[in-house]
Amino acid sequence: MSNTMQEMQTDIGLVNTIVARSALSFIDGENGVLEYVGYDIDDLARNSTFEETTFLLWNKRLPSRSELAEFTEQIRTNYDLSDRMWDIIVSLPRDASPMHALRTLTSALSLEDPGADDPSEEANARKSLAMLTKMPALIAGFDRHRKGLDLVRPDATISLSENFLYMLNGIKPTERMARAMDICLILHADHGFNASTFASLVTISTLSDMYSAVTTAIGTLKGPLHGGANQVVMIMLQEIEGLDSVEEYVMDKLAKKDKIMGFGHRVYKAYDPRATYLKTFAEGIAEDTGNTELFELSKRIEQIMDREVGSRGIYPNVDFYSATTYFSLGIDLDLFTPLFAMSRVSGWTAHCLEYLEDNRLIRPRCDYVGPHQQEYIAISQR
Ligand code: CMC
Repeated sequence: MSNTMQEMQTDIGLVNTIVARSALSFIDGENGVLEYVGYDIDDLARNSTFEETTFLLWNKRLPSRSELAEFTEQIRTNYDLSDRMWDIIVSLPRDASPMHALRTLTSALSLEDPGADDPSEEANARKSLAMLTKMPALIAGFDRHRKGLDLVRPDATISLSENFLYMLNGIKPTERMARAMDICLILHADHGFNASTFASLVTISTLSDMYSAVTTAIGTLKGPLHGGANQVVMIMLQEIEGLDSVEEYVMDKLAKKDKIMGFGHRVYKAYDPRATYLKTFAEGIAEDTGNTELFELSKRIEQIMDREVGSRGIYPNVDFYSATTYFSLGIDLDLFTPLFAMSRVSGWTAHCLEYLEDNRLIRPRCDYVGPHQQEYIAISQR
């Protein structure tokens, strides 16, 4: 039973609306807590792997040792793309943005899947696995193509994170670099009904298909108010001329009511727990790779923001310190958001699979504020 229009509340931006139930991630924005299926994000970042975290999100429980071994095997044997997909990658304009390329390439995966529209649970799980496992090759492949470098085929003996860095750079990463990438993927894997997850649910709720849902999500993630923020954080850090300029830069932006990217969150009014972890982590990597100046700059921005707007609950979010982490790993700025997608595909698909268990079309109303009963005047008389 739905309410009449008079009984409905307008909620612009869906700030106060709960649209469905989920047992995947729990966020306590007041106390800065994030759990995936009840496991604290800090615990997962320290002890889990992206593969195991994905199993957790898809199955709502941790795997046994043999289940993890089997799942890892399934992931690794799915890394490679068909020859046609590699051809599509090299047919793309070299100057295209990687996020546009990733959206197009993810969508293209559906073209060669005869079961793209099969709505069964098994088929949806298979499609989720296909997108999760092939995204690293899509991103790394496009990056090498645009740089005029030879494509690197995946190595089925290594983890998804290690394999991504290998396909991107053509050399195997150090253990520390691969672990850093893996932790970033764990931290970004899921986050309740964020904008891109919600967008994917809107698409799947029409009983469209998993490829369309994830393609929708990638387009939504791209915006600077969502996943696109990490790239803009880095641009900001590069714009600031040194530690002495930070105060003026931040105060000037705040005076103009501009946002400082990487700060603030719709849900967290305390420190984003992912940022707490990434801050310590970014510091270690910055020291290892000699990027301490950028880290110091970030810390200074945070101090000023804390002084000016901390009391309003505006703290660093996940994008603030992930930007310096990715930069220290030698990743190009415009790959930061594709990396976010490479991780969040795990959460997008988990939410779609969960929503389909008890699907209902998502179809909100709008509060119509336009005119009524206008007289139609023929074009010749207007
Ligand atoms: N810098 C300066 N002021 C801010 C910021 C910021 N980063 N974020 C929020 N505010 C102020 C904002 O100006 C507004 O002030 P006032 O009430 O005086 O008009 C107030 O805080 C509320 O902001 P809002 O934009 O209405 O809040 P929201 O809940 O709609 O937006 C947000 C949340 C994430 C869009 C916003 O904080 C923002 O634009 N942050 C910068 C972009 C960013 O870092 N995005 C990544 C989000 S985390 C990754 C993810 O989950 O996607």
